[in-house]
Amino acid sequence: MQLSAFPRVALAALPTALEPLPRLSRHLGGPEIYIKRDDSTGLAIGGNKTRKLEFLLADAIEQGSDTIVTAGATQSNHVRQTAAACARLGLACEVLLERRVTDKGVDYDHNGNVLLDELLGATVHHRPVVDDLDAEAESFVAELAAAGRKPYLVPVGGSSPVGALGYVVCAREMVNQAFDRHLTIDHVIVATGSAGTQAGLVAGFESAGAPVPVTGICVGRPEALMVAKVETLLRRTWDYLGLRGDPPDGLVQANDTFIGPGYGVPTDAMIEAVTLFARFEGVLLDPVYTGKAAAGLIALIREGRFRRGETVVFLHTGGTPALFAYRTSFQEAASAAST
Ligand SMILES: Cc1ncc(COP(=O)(O)O)c(C=O)c1O
Repeated sequence: MQLSAFPRVALAALPTALEPLPRLSRHLGGPEIYIKRDDSTGLAIGGNKTRKLEFLLADAIEQGSDTIVTAGATQSNHVRQTAAACARLGLACEVLLERRVTDKGVDYDHNGNVLLDELLGATVHHRPVVDDLDAEAESFVAELAAAGRKPYLVPVGGSSPVGALGYVVCAREMVNQAFDRHLTIDHVIVATGSAGTQAGLVAGFESAGAPVPVTGICVGRPEALMVAKVETLLRRTWDYLGLRGDPPDGLVQANDTFIGPGYGVPTDAMIEAVTLFARFEGVLLDPVYTGKAAAGLIALIREGRFRRGETVVFLHTGGTPALFAYRTSFQEAASAAST
């Protein structure tokens, strides 16, 4: 089925830029690094979820919903972008925030994305750590429906076949940008969490006849579980797109070496990566997703995984507001470095 046949609302400023990072590439002495600026999708500080929400909220509107329900960790970028999209479209927004990361202090609990969720008009419900956040959100949806509302559940991270279409669009956008510049993209590196970004990208490249390898750098899940999660969503997205057969085997690659002690827990390599991107290119990453993905990119380059002359695209999926939630981690690292 043609992508244009799926209901979609315009939320993102597209296409996002595909830019070289010459100073960082030179500093690392490896391949040419390009960055795909999905941190600049344009809605309330941007990020990858805005592309997914174009399809998800169109689906909600088609179903006659008046309230969007979604869930995430306290500093969820997905929740903030959902709140912004609801504000733009005049939909009510109810969000569950799970305290998955603890003891990070007042900035973590109240600044960054949390501050913005409230400013954007979402109704925030806090939850302790739960076994299954999607199930928790489903039971909340049932409560709202029983009270006469018309709720629509956007799954955690916006990762369903509907949401993954946003990254089918992104892959095709990159194929066109590369074609226009006579550029061959040899590899894409992206942070992977709820799987929709990676599954959509892989489906998009493959179905465009441009099978670019994509490595997902895990931010929480062990590699085998992450690969299985992306493969399952890839198959479902493939079916939803109406593509024939099954996606070829072996398309999904993940690497869990850069998680550190856990989801949202800072690592030295993340701090180094965020600092290098800031100081060599003026690009702001985030501590939870893109900082760890960039730590992966840097380590793979230092290990010699990419040749000189190759082009590696780092997909910047956003998350910048979380920097303000991790103020103390960066300040502690800076003062340790100066002593
Ligand atoms: C900044 C950022 N990057 C990457 C991801 C991971 O994307 P996905 O959940 O589609 O795997 C997220 C998810 O919340 C995110 O907020």
